[in-house]
Amino acid sequence: MEIENRKWILKERPQGLVKDSDFELIAETLPAINEGEILIENLYLSFDPTQRGWLNDVPGYLPPVQIGEVVRSGGMGRVIESKNAAYNVGDLVFGFVGWQSHCITKAEDDDRFRVIPELLPIPTMLNVMGTTGITAYYGLLELGKPQPGETVLVSGAAGATGSVVVQIAKLKGCHVIAIAGGKEKCDWLKEAGADDVIDYKNSNVHEELPKIAKNGIDIYFDNVGGDILETVLSHININARVLLCGGISSGYDASTLPDGPRNLFSLIIKRATMQGFLVLDYLPRSQKALEDIASWILEGKLQHREDIQEGIENCPQTLNRLFTGDNKGKQLLKI
Ligand SMILES: NC(=O)c1ccc[n+]([C@@H]2O[C@H](COP(=O)([O-])OP(=O)(O)OC[C@H]3O[C@@H](n4cnc5c(N)ncnc54)[C@H](OP(=O)(O)O)[C@@H]3O)[C@@H](O)[C@H]2O)c1
Repeated sequence: MEIENRKWILKERPQGLVKDSDFELIAETLPAINEGEILIENLYLSFDPTQRGWLNDVPGYLPPVQIGEVVRSGGMGRVIESKNAAYNVGDLVFGFVGWQSHCITKAEDDDRFRVIPELLPIPTMLNVMGTTGITAYYGLLELGKPQPGETVLVSGAAGATGSVVVQIAKLKGCHVIAIAGGKEKCDWLKEAGADDVIDYKNSNVHEELPKIAKNGIDIYFDNVGGDILETVLSHININARVLLCGGISSGYDASTLPDGPRNLFSLIIKRATMQGFLVLDYLPRSQKALEDIASWILEGKLQHREDIQEGIENCPQTLNRLFTGDNKGKQLLKI
């Protein structure tokens, strides 16, 4: 049986938002698989801001995607052929499947390919039960250690990661302030339980934050960096925890350095900590997070939304939605 794979390869390094012309969509007939390999039909691709960073020619926590390589991305697919005893035809798998319709991999060499029990719809699993949900869970609970009554501030709050942080913080009895862009996202955050919201696109965070966070900030879960981080550092409490999850305001573009913060001395005055973290370190022990998140979903305590684009030809424009803020929830693409 001949199978055609459609795949996006990187043609040149993008600057700013990506363009279709930075990539090339090509079709190839797949070879027969070898012993130890599996053939996956990709079903949904996950879009994550970090993918933009992987396209830069700078060292990171994973090697840059090379010119001519398939664009790296997470996703879920179904095994349609297997010459590897650890995988059966029909298994649903999660891993770095890439911007392509099919994927051949020696999955046992790559601990990032996992067989996934089909407990919830695939988009839900890629969202709250996927890496963004796990990021939110461990970042907030293990590093932030939220205590009832503390004030937790979340930026990028309506997104896949931020919205889970907001809701877990509420479940832990915290007062939650959410920052997001636009009325629609802010209204949704109120429905999801945020006590206060700041629409950073239609108001001035520098002016609004001190009015809303009258008791200061105990935990700041930062998804955006830049000016907002600088503003928040001026309003942290003694022993505050500043959790650096992402800095999307930089656009993850290698040609521009992010702004600020200029006031790191706030950490000294407030005996506060600032810590970066990566979800990859938590994936091997994500079972507890997945169990808790699944039960919150089944109990109706965790709202989630997925933004599902369609068609492999739309990969580049789908990545941009994360940086324009067009995504309403976890950004996915159905193949
Ligand atoms: N450390 C880790 O291991 C880890 C793991 C996963 C994700 N992350 C980070 O977590 C953050 C959120 O990722 P996600 O996958 O959950 O994406 P997401 O929040 O669902 O989507 C990205 C959101 O970022 C906001 N945004 C875009 N440009 C912005 C700007 N210039 N200033 C402020 N906000 C901006 C947009 O929301 P608005 O419409 O509200 O602007 C957009 O919807 C990213 O920084 C990502 O890199 C880190």
